[in-house]
Amino acid sequence: MTLRSVVTGVGGHLPDQIVTNHDLAKFVDTSDEWITERTGIRQRRKAKDGEFTSDIAVEAARKALAAAGRTPDDVDLIVVATTTGDLTFPACATIVQRKLGCPVGVAFDVQAVCSGFVYALSVADGFVARNRSKCCLVIGAETMTRLMDWEDRGTCVLFGDGAGAVVLEPMEGAGTTADRGLLGFALRADGTKQDLLYVDGGVSTGKTGYLRMQGNQVFRHAVVNISEAINMAAADAGIEVSEVDWFIPHQANLRILQGVAHRCGIAEEKVITTVAEHANTSAASIPLALDAAVQDGRIKKGDLLLLEAMGGGLTWGACVVRL
Ligand code: ACO
Repeated sequence: MTLRSVVTGVGGHLPDQIVTNHDLAKFVDTSDEWITERTGIRQRRKAKDGEFTSDIAVEAARKALAAAGRTPDDVDLIVVATTTGDLTFPACATIVQRKLGCPVGVAFDVQAVCSGFVYALSVADGFVARNRSKCCLVIGAETMTRLMDWEDRGTCVLFGDGAGAVVLEPMEGAGTTADRGLLGFALRADGTKQDLLYVDGGVSTGKTGYLRMQGNQVFRHAVVNISEAINMAAADAGIEVSEVDWFIPHQANLRILQGVAHRCGIAEEKVITTVAEHANTSAASIPLALDAAVQDGRIKKGDLLLLEAMGGGLTWGACVVRL
């Protein structure tokens, strides 16, 4: 028998405020046509004043716990993937722990930007599949709009706010690819590519800073790196990519996720896309897309899922999950 980390609940939350491409075109030199054609994005959500990453994370976590039939009292581990935590410290995860009213346990953040959720799942798997957590929340939560330079049309049109969460619980499996749970991973980072995508603030500068990106360079690396990670994660899980029921990519750009699907031989109808409505919500985009497809009934218990992401660092990775 093999102990597996099994996803027993999924939840998502978006701030109320919708910002369309037309809204942006009123104060940025851009157009709905340019944004839609180049990225597939039509709108994004924006947190209101006083609404922070921990607030939207808590809402997503509540829904995931309810879906799993668990309460905050059951939670012994919280891992939040974020690059926009409310404060430099404490970790957003400990703020979420307090706001949810969870008992004393383990709580910390994982910072791998857009790849954060895949990284966080892998870290949480190290606890759950070793029986060191009985009920774990893995949350991807971001308020990326707070890192935008609203005068930089090359970046400010791309990002949005939101949060998605899953509950992980240990379950015995047979040790085969038919088991439910996290079945395989591939994680990668290349710090030499830092200048392609970063925030020009932090303790070294004394200000929060803005997101800076050489979009076309990031684009160039994305399809190749992600495709490689997908094949490595599939090999780690012992599956063929063709067996996957649903492909849930990080939602950065429709052209990237279609390019990756094409390169990996994944049929278009298996690709979950939310980029039109959510834009790029960084670490939140994969669990938000997962939640959307669970809620509308496409993804069901037992389905084989392939998740992938690439982000600042550069970091990238992929994960195979049977729901
Ligand atoms: N509206 C109108 N024109 C624009 C806009 C805009 N919002 N933004 C850029 N342009 C212009 C540029 O100024 C340029 O004009 P020029 O030719 O006169 O100089 C032209 O459009 C082309 O610019 P490019 O940057 O070459 O456009 P590209 O086709 O590469 O699309 C984009 C840009 C959408 C950013 C694309 O490169 C992309 O999606 N890159 C990857 C983003 C990504 O995946 N990031 C990773 C995750 S993010 C994270 O980790 C936080």
